[in-house]
Amino acid sequence: MAEVFPQKTVAQFAERACIHPKRGPFLFRLVRELQPMTILELGTGFGISTLYIAAASKLNGTGNITTLEGASQPVRIARSNFEKAGLGGNITSIHGFFQDTLDGILATLGEVDFVFIDGHHEEEPTLSYVHKILPRLSACGMIVLDDIDWSEGMMKAWRVLSGLPFIESATAYQWIGLLTPIPCKN
Ligand SMILES: C[S@@+](CC[C@H](N)C(=O)[O-])C[C@H]1O[C@@H](n2cnc3c(N)ncnc32)[C@H](O)[C@@H]1O
Repeated sequence: MAEVFPQKTVAQFAERACIHPKRGPFLFRLVRELQPMTILELGTGFGISTLYIAAASKLNGTGNITTLEGASQPVRIARSNFEKAGLGGNITSIHGFFQDTLDGILATLGEVDFVFIDGHHEEEPTLSYVHKILPRLSACGMIVLDDIDWSEGMMKAWRVLSGLPFIESATAYQWIGLLTPIPCKN
């Protein structure tokens, strides 16, 4: 498999590719509040955001996380981080490009309660991933998009998604976009 970031050292990667320090705790609090059971993450990186989600899930006493990552070195480091943190039990780490893995994973997971998208920050791929995920989202499920300010493409994708007729609520906080579809009645 071709590497996503073949030319970067771990340090260079880590500098830009871990969740922002203010957004990790926000993710943690969201998961504590929503108590999702089935959680999907696109973009494991070194697993820092996964650990925020997993720590909240552990306190919730519920929540299994499936996290997807295309580059092999981050996958190795993330898996080691999960074990070191003692949170590996509820995390399934999948190595492969979203384009190749997402359909199969969605079919396996059934309904998904919480999705964090933090990779492949371009307009068309982002729209495509969200459109694949939306029909699988449980009532009151949530899709969280990181870096909606990352590029013109991400800003466009956010504008399109937040204007969809079947989106009940689209909220931006600290450049994280939160999408809740219409079926939610709570
Ligand atoms: C911003 S980093 C993720 C950081 C991680 N969520 C955290 O906060 O610790 C984005 C990750 O998405 C991965 N990625 C980007 N495009 C991808 C694709 N098409 N398929 C799979 N992984 C991809 C990159 O290799 C990178 O590790």
